[in-house]
Amino acid sequence: MPGSWEGAVARAFAAIFPLLLSLAGPGARAENDFSQVQPLVTMEQLLWVSGRQVGAVDTFRIPLIAATPRGTLLAFAEARKMSASDEGAKFIALRRSTDQGSTWSSTAFIVDDGEVSDGLNLGAVVSDEETGVVFLFYTLCAHKFRCQVASTMLVWSKNDGVSWSPPRNLSMDIGTEMFAPGPGSGIQKKWEPRKGRLIVCGHGTLERDGVSCLLSDDHGATWHYGAGLSGIPYGQPKLENDFNPDECQPYELPDGSVIINARNQNNYHCHCRIIIRSYDACDTLRPRDVTFDHELVDPVVAAGAVATSSGIIFFSNPAHPEFRVNLTLRWSFSNGTSWQKDKVRLWPGPSGYSSLTALESGTGGENKAPQLYVLYEKGLSRYTESISMAKISVYGTL
Ligand SMILES: *[C@@H]1O[C@H](CO)[C@@H](O)[C@H](O)[C@H]1NC(C)=O
Ligand SMILES: *[C@@H]1O[C@H](CO)[C@@H](O)[C@H](O)[C@H]1NC(C)=O
Ligand SMILES: *[C@@H]1O[C@H](CO)[C@@H](O)[C@H](O)[C@H]1NC(C)=O
Repeated sequence: MPGSWEGAVARAFAAIFPLLLSLAGPGARAENDFSQVQPLVTMEQLLWVSGRQVGAVDTFRIPLIAATPRGTLLAFAEARKMSASDEGAKFIALRRSTDQGSTWSSTAFIVDDGEVSDGLNLGAVVSDEETGVVFLFYTLCAHKFRCQVASTMLVWSKNDGVSWSPPRNLSMDIGTEMFAPGPGSGIQKKWEPRKGRLIVCGHGTLERDGVSCLLSDDHGATWHYGAGLSGIPYGQPKLENDFNPDECQPYELPDGSVIINARNQNNYHCHCRIIIRSYDACDTLRPRDVTFDHELVDPVVAAGAVATSSGIIFFSNPAHPEFRVNLTLRWSFSNGTSWQKDKVRLWPGPSGYSSLTALESGTGGENKAPQLYVLYEKGLSRYTESISMAKISVYGTL
């Protein structure tokens, strides 16, 4: 009888409904419920393999990963055409995922620098939550290798990375001092001061080094530099143990200050990360706000860092004082002042640069448990062999 069958379904549903609610829990969990955090790798796939297998590209390096405001994942890398060198001609490779990282589009080469001697270098990606526009920064002629002038370049997408603008030469506005963005993500300020500001941090040449940030208060229409933090001695060849902050990754703390987690190029003070804190949305970076995180042992590399909306800080790097091995994910419940004892070791072998992004409710992940994505350089004998994407469930649920 249909009636009693419906009744049975209704009764069964009534019994199951509270269970469903509790299973749906993670998305609805109270903020700062740190006791639930139990990061678990649920998937890993290689997005690019070096060795002239994809588009005859010699080497893929410099991974960037970002979640757009609509919840699309964008993975970028330098596709180095002829060799593994930082110089030489390259494409920017992009793969997209609209299903939380399960499947990825085939590789699109969205920028091609031709046959130049000192081609493009990535770079930083940042999106504007209000307009949905995604910005991607890169540099041309960063090493001045058989070229005279460095240029900071910008492309943007209004459709989650499907198509991109022609390159805009930002150096016409900000000057031609070499600026290497990231590599990693920029941020948009969530809290005052300067809520809504777009911030992209980067570094200079090894001699004229130091960290500074490009800032936009008009949704990416115009950009200007904040005051930077210089290396010492500035403009001169450095020695081991000189102060030389280099590749860097910003994130915002809940009090509205910005942390810039930077590569310690000459191992000043420690074989560990330099931490720069800005209280004015990166208008200034002051020497007095520089500390060193001895827990974040580092072999001089570009690392990943991201703050989730619930206040967890994640950090990824090859956790070794000398060598690029042992790609490790760490997390902090104390605004990065200390790190949890538990770690996730993603790969014990050769591993290099890494980039992090989180997909949570509000970034197209409504009512889904928060997920973290690590895109990193990984290999059996060299870390330049491939670029791998690991998906991590923050609460350890599938
Ligand atoms: C970018 O603009 C600067 C300043 O006008 C110029 O010197 C440089 O050659 C330009 N770069 C490119 C790639 O057009
Ligand atoms: C890698 O990290 C693990 C702990 O996470 C440690 O036991 C091991 O010694 C490390 N290996 C290297 C080569 O540093
Ligand atoms: C992190 O910073 C926020 C904002 O300043 C503060 O409310 C919170 O107590 C801090 N957390 C810890 C563990 O210090």
